[in-house]
Amino acid sequence: MRVLVAGGAGYIGSVVTAALLSDGHEVTVLDDLSTGHADAVPEGAALAEVSLHDSAPVLADVRPEAVLHFAARSLVGVSQQQPEDYWSTNVGGSLALLESMRAVDCRRIVFSSTAATYGEPDALPIREDAPTRPTNTYGASKLAVDHMLTSYAVAHGFAAVSLRYFNVAGAAFGLGERHATETHLIPLALQVAAGQRGSLTVFGRDYPTPDGTCIRDYVHVADLADAHLLALPAPSAGEHRVYNLGNGTGFSVQEVLDAAREVTGHAIPTTDGPRRAGDPAQLVASSDRIRAELGWTPRHPDLVGIVSDAWTVAQAR
Ligand code: UFG
Repeated sequence: MRVLVAGGAGYIGSVVTAALLSDGHEVTVLDDLSTGHADAVPEGAALAEVSLHDSAPVLADVRPEAVLHFAARSLVGVSQQQPEDYWSTNVGGSLALLESMRAVDCRRIVFSSTAATYGEPDALPIREDAPTRPTNTYGASKLAVDHMLTSYAVAHGFAAVSLRYFNVAGAAFGLGERHATETHLIPLALQVAAGQRGSLTVFGRDYPTPDGTCIRDYVHVADLADAHLLALPAPSAGEHRVYNLGNGTGFSVQEVLDAAREVTGHAIPTTDGPRRAGDPAQLVASSDRIRAELGWTPRHPDLVGIVSDAWTVAQAR
């Protein structure tokens, strides 16, 4: 299939681009490189250095049969201080992309949504029919695009899938996380192990969990890539499907730190800090729907394996 990957120079977008290429698809990456890296775009994919807002000429030129849309601002904390950037890029940019698609009669899309659309859960594991009550602008902006896709499916015959990622981690095809501002636990722990930073702060040890630290559902980026390949052909015209993507197993912050020590063989000094605003105690996905409907099964559910793959790529850099 001829596909356009918006945000294909970022962490998850570049891994999925590599997976699409190895599956025989023809890929053009559209990325303004505001947070992505040109050298992360896999060989074999074309790169159009353009923002979502200016995507129309690129789509008119490429004439894709489908779009995979990863391009977004994704820092929860920043979204509270600079909401305008999140509404403009994530919502305005997505609207511009959908209109660019409609102009060339491309109506198939897989969208990167997030667990942050649910907010604080009433019940675990979180299913797709759980209430969506985002607690930050990032989650709200992604939820707005989910709603946009539902209406484009109904009104304009789009075939759409929203994949709601939980905590994506690990590395694949030699591509890993590389953010200018790193806020995620696993890459931060590996930076400490590599001596690039002195220590990290554990945000709260007083949660109602077995060891007092927050529990999250870490899903390997290679498993996430599998899910995109399965989702791409799945919906019919007029259909918008929503799937959660997680391992279904939660790991605590302490368990992640223990895994990072085991994998790297380095001490990872920590200090105990207060809770981070907006962090729910536990976020664990039910991925039953995508397992049942698309036959997706995580091939790398083991935490040590996930951290180990991230470490291998971080060290190669
Ligand atoms: N944590 C620390 N210290 C750090 C960094 C993180 O203790 O220096 C803790 C956090 O408090 C949290 C856990 O490690 O309990 C994981 O934090 P991350 O920042 O790695 O990931 P989040 O769970 O906050 O965020 C992820 C995605 C977001 C998404 C969110 C959904 O990265 O994009 O899940 O709630 F919005």
